[in-house]
Amino acid sequence: MGQTLTRETELPAIIQGGMGVYVSNHRLARTVAIAGGLGVVSGTGLDGVYARLLQDGDRGARWGIDQFPDQALAQRLLDTYFKPAGRQGKPYRNPPKWIIDPRTDRQRVGHVELQELAVVSAFAEVTRAKHRHEGLIGINVLRKIAMPIPATLYGAILAGVDFVIAGAGSPDEMPRLLDLLASHQEGSLSMKVLRATDGVEHATRFDPAQLSGLTTDAPLRRPRFLAIVASVDLAAGLAAAPATRPEGFIVEGPTAGGHNSPPRGPWRPQTDPSYDTRDDVDVAAIAAIGLPFWLAGSYGSPTGLRAAWEAGACGVQAGTVFALSRESGLTPELRRQILHQLSDGELRVTTDGSASPTGFPFKVHQLEGTLSDPAVRNARERKCDLGYLRQPVVRNGKVVYTCPAEPEPTYKSKGGREPQTSGRVCLCNALFAAAGLSQRRLGGYVEPPIFTGGADLETVHRLSPDGDEYSATDAMSFIRTGALTA
Ligand SMILES: Cc1cc2nc3c(=O)[nH]c(=O)nc-3n(C[C@H](O)[C@H](O)[C@H](O)COP(=O)(O)O)c2cc1C
Repeated sequence: MGQTLTRETELPAIIQGGMGVYVSNHRLARTVAIAGGLGVVSGTGLDGVYARLLQDGDRGARWGIDQFPDQALAQRLLDTYFKPAGRQGKPYRNPPKWIIDPRTDRQRVGHVELQELAVVSAFAEVTRAKHRHEGLIGINVLRKIAMPIPATLYGAILAGVDFVIAGAGSPDEMPRLLDLLASHQEGSLSMKVLRATDGVEHATRFDPAQLSGLTTDAPLRRPRFLAIVASVDLAAGLAAAPATRPEGFIVEGPTAGGHNSPPRGPWRPQTDPSYDTRDDVDVAAIAAIGLPFWLAGSYGSPTGLRAAWEAGACGVQAGTVFALSRESGLTPELRRQILHQLSDGELRVTTDGSASPTGFPFKVHQLEGTLSDPAVRNARERKCDLGYLRQPVVRNGKVVYTCPAEPEPTYKSKGGREPQTSGRVCLCNALFAAAGLSQRRLGGYVEPPIFTGGADLETVHRLSPDGDEYSATDAMSFIRTGALTA
């Protein structure tokens, strides 16, 4: 122990992983970057997050938006969402839902408004994370939540983001998307549309030219791209061609917080998975690819960092230890509940095979009052009003959007099968709630949260043996040196 960081080059030894929704926000990422790590803001749902922050009269969000180079556009968004005195107990007004094929005039207007909101929100979040320091800031997006990605990344690039990190699906189109957006060209990502006619391709796109108030067309600095992988095959496939090759990999194992890759062994979807040695990634084979890489999933510790270095990695990506630090976007109540339950030895973490509408296994901390509790789940009336996880599907010749967590009759009316809906949690509403942005329904019902954290809580326990708060700076220092700050 006692080893100090000696490898602080342009490639950081410690990456604070992206954690949506708004858990890894600008404050956490900035704190980590100042402490010498790569601080990563979450790009997931940022448009909705900023719409809510503005309705709560959040001055910091407003400040970020005030920095946007096209002030006419910024003002339009402020006119729509900013309430200096907050909502006065009223429900949040939601932005329109993401779609890929606006057809009516109303849909087209809503779609443009939404894209503008995504650009400006990502710009504001990255600008706030980069404020007054020279450290490194990245943004994380999930390939499964594709529709907002091109507009979100354009906003982040405008703000000078240093890294883009993507997982949850193959990120093979991301390098090209970043090339295009950094030169102000239209960028797109292909979209899987269920039951689409053979040969018809669908995509989500964003054309920077639609932001007519931006005066520069000088190329922007293209961020470096890191792909999150859980298999050598995916990593080697991405590295094989210049068009798909990232600047590095995050190799994430199944104990990590958030979504996990499905197990390689037998697994029936919607049952809780178990992992075995087949899920171990051959790190030597990753190293042999020759690109920089970081290890994630129970590596947020001094021993984890040393093991990663010994395996040839640049370092580690950690999530849970930062999610539970003072600077994270998690509500203080939820954070304290978790830290106290952990110090009392009563924290149970499960890998839930059915909760996430994405179909991926999802780590869940078992906490009273949250949607980990079946009673809380059953008391919630199904409602899909945010829609980030909706899957496009062709129905009667038109693209419609479905989510297995939406009300069952609606899901079935779009061709979905009832068993698919079982056990699903509306992660959109639950994750907004975990970040203190719960929707309040008209009858007074407040959307409950869920917390996704990793299975390995050893470092958190070391930093907070009695359930007391700690900062992300303490976590950085402990991972690097093994020493606890006072
Ligand atoms: C609260 C939470 C939310 C997460 N959300 C995301 C996410 O939105 N995108 C992503 O790529 N990874 C996400 N992760 C994974 C982390 O970025 C990181 O890779 C992981 O937590 C590392 O494992 P550890 O938790 O054992 O440190 C999340 C993790 C946590 C704890």
